[in-house]
Amino acid sequence: MSPAATWMSPRERLDGILPDIEIAALAPVIQEIEELKESRNAVVLAHNYMTPDIYHGVADMKGDSLALARLAKKTDAEVILMAGVHFMAETAKIVNQRKTVLIPDMDAGCSLADAITGADVRLLRERYPGVPVVTYVNTSAEVKAEADICCTSGNAVQVVESLGTDRVIFLPDQFLGQWVAGQTDIDIILWEGSCMVHERFTGEELRVYRDMHPGIQIIAHPECPSDVLEEADFVGSTAGMIKWVKTEQPRQVVMVTECSMSDNVAAESPETEFTQPCNLCPHMKRITLTGIRDSLRDMKHEVIVDPTVAEQASASVERMLEVRA
Ligand code: 13P
Ligand code: SF4
Repeated sequence: MSPAATWMSPRERLDGILPDIEIAALAPVIQEIEELKESRNAVVLAHNYMTPDIYHGVADMKGDSLALARLAKKTDAEVILMAGVHFMAETAKIVNQRKTVLIPDMDAGCSLADAITGADVRLLRERYPGVPVVTYVNTSAEVKAEADICCTSGNAVQVVESLGTDRVIFLPDQFLGQWVAGQTDIDIILWEGSCMVHERFTGEELRVYRDMHPGIQIIAHPECPSDVLEEADFVGSTAGMIKWVKTEQPRQVVMVTECSMSDNVAAESPETEFTQPCNLCPHMKRITLTGIRDSLRDMKHEVIVDPTVAEQASASVERMLEVRA
């Protein structure tokens, strides 16, 4: 558990990140959440796209999808509250099936997870017999159960190369799949899913941006279309992007991803100026501070995965966790 979340007052955690008046309004809710965490023996895992009040105010641990899966697997807490979207909560349940996993809003979905079903995977297997199936973690438990192995944006190339085949089926993000194809000699069979947040960026807008801000560094998530990634100085998972900014300390940067990323990193990187553009993920934004409080108070909404599906999905996730990234 992060020491910052256990002993700092709400004001200390959010000082310099949010205006004083906002901190004063949020402090009682943060206090309630801390008390509920204690009484429920709960831990709050937060994705990097959470708003700063959650990310800096109540998260015990935070990270990209890969880190959240690893953290969920090893936590001692009885209750895992996932401040993220549904597939992340499902993954936490899959890797740690004896825990109670809560999500504040069941409708916090993902356009990628909605792009493919278990039946689609079975049809692909019939079409490409013997070709292994790699599925991005941004999928339902049912799809993970049909796959050979999962991957995240933080380990996709290593996972594809770990299989030792010259061909793989890669699901469901066509842009992440195209990016992986550019990093390896392995033949990648793609599916036409995409992220509703990242597919909206264009290479053209970034070229205009670079002309307007000479010297600006452009860093992008691999769910963006190829012409966007070609314009980028760095491509990586959300955790990879944060690490890059902290290490490189650029004077000016644009993070081509969800808007809260810049807000969260800006608080920890005062030497860097963060500029637009960014897009909001409507699913991630369903998770709010009061929603987290209500979720812990009423023990809702519990994420349940059918035990047979969970066992099969667990094999795909565990295989991924064994791959070194
Ligand atoms: P990361 O695994 O890079 O955090 O990405 C998750 C996600 O949903 C990005 O849109
Ligand atoms: Fe899904 Fe895209 Fe939102 Fe990530 S940003 S949760 S991939 S819709």
